[in-house]
Amino acid sequence: MSDPDTDLSASVKASASHANAASSARRILRGDVLDFTADPGFAQPKEAPGVRWRPDHLVLIDAGRIAAVQAYSQSLPPAWQAVPVEDHRGQLIMPGFIDTHVHCPQLDVIASFGTELLDWLNTYTFPAERRYADPAVSQAGAARFLQALWAHGTTSAVVFPTVHKVSAQALFEQAHAQHMRLITGKVLMNRHAPDGLRDDVEQAERDCVDLIDNWHGKGRQSFAVTVRFAPTSTPEQLVMAGQLCQTYDGTYMQTHVAENRDEVQWVASLFPDARSYLDVYDRDGLIGSRGVLAHGIWLDERDRAVLRERGAQIAHSPSSNLFLGSGLFDWAQAQREGVNVSLASDVGGGTSLSMLRNMADAYKIQALQGTRLTAWKALYTATLGAARNLGLSYEIGQVEPGRMADLAIWNWSAGPVATHRDGLAQASGDLHERAFVWMTLGDERNLVGTIIAGKTVYKTRITA
Ligand code: GUN
Ligand code: ZN
Repeated sequence: MSDPDTDLSASVKASASHANAASSARRILRGDVLDFTADPGFAQPKEAPGVRWRPDHLVLIDAGRIAAVQAYSQSLPPAWQAVPVEDHRGQLIMPGFIDTHVHCPQLDVIASFGTELLDWLNTYTFPAERRYADPAVSQAGAARFLQALWAHGTTSAVVFPTVHKVSAQALFEQAHAQHMRLITGKVLMNRHAPDGLRDDVEQAERDCVDLIDNWHGKGRQSFAVTVRFAPTSTPEQLVMAGQLCQTYDGTYMQTHVAENRDEVQWVASLFPDARSYLDVYDRDGLIGSRGVLAHGIWLDERDRAVLRERGAQIAHSPSSNLFLGSGLFDWAQAQREGVNVSLASDVGGGTSLSMLRNMADAYKIQALQGTRLTAWKALYTATLGAARNLGLSYEIGQVEPGRMADLAIWNWSAGPVATHRDGLAQASGDLHERAFVWMTLGDERNLVGTIIAGKTVYKTRITA
């Protein structure tokens, strides 16, 4: 059986069309390369497997892909000797982060005061999403959103747009133009939402099939059957969504599950025949290995067994869970029970697109439950872990020859307090201490630049 991380035939097949279209210029980056080769789990930092630290290395990029990674001291192959070396000495070069659950239109409502999930949806979110019926709003929103992801070091994402087909289309078009790996699909919701935000089963199915025909598998775009959550779809719409998942190979499925206790009770009253909230989706064939379910705080053991058996993942959304007061996700329990977990910003329920900030919040959530989340586990999860969960580790998640050159370059610190603390951590000689300080104090201010398919899509402005 082939190793999914290194199945280069899949890699070449999947992106033959866009590799050529991506920047054909060769580039060489010099810096300290950090990535992962295995899940560090919840082991103590010093015992954690899979940490790959390559200080003062060169990353050779050709036609959008990583061609080689070698020590700076090693001489370059002849064909590369005339290529200028971009000097990032003392800076971190990492795989771009993968945000597995984030809402494009919700940049408009990030940091809204005073509500829990169901009120928050009605008060802030639904009114903002209605505006995306206008194609100009969808286009401008997609551009703003993708640029914001890049400005936070995120190079791949699983995205909720709105119920409007045009909102998914705008994301696909703009991500495709930059050769960015994006997974999205129009939101399905045909009840319990205001006018202007409801579809119907037949039109929704036609829109999805049209988006699949036009975008699924085009370059780095993948379609996700996007059920907002059980309360906003009728049983008939859920059946249709399940049929889409079964019919169209390689499609993903994204939704929300068991985020908030009132929501869980509401689902129980709407679907009295289902064993659980998760079962509402499972009985219609929505849960497979490409299922991405946000939150999953209030699941039971049988639900977790179903997720494990299906190979689906929970997109743990730490800043959202804290901000909306939804609850504390028990990551260590999910790990023990074999459930795949990725990390997500869930903006605008979440308060930052920064995956570093979300990692820092994840640490606090686990600490409240007696578990210590290492920087290794957090950083693995937002890179190779997410790539594996999405079946994309042949393409993203590592700084490795053959992978797409989706990279972020980081400063270890920003601002006087972090710089002071980083200096002490560096002097200690303990790499985990340094990485943990970075994860805990860092955010988008640490970012130097973001590269997608070999091309710089974001660069910090030099103000000095
Ligand atoms: N559940 C259904 N819709 C949403 C949403 O937009 N955000 C969050 N956090 N939960 C949801
Ligand atoms: Zn969400």
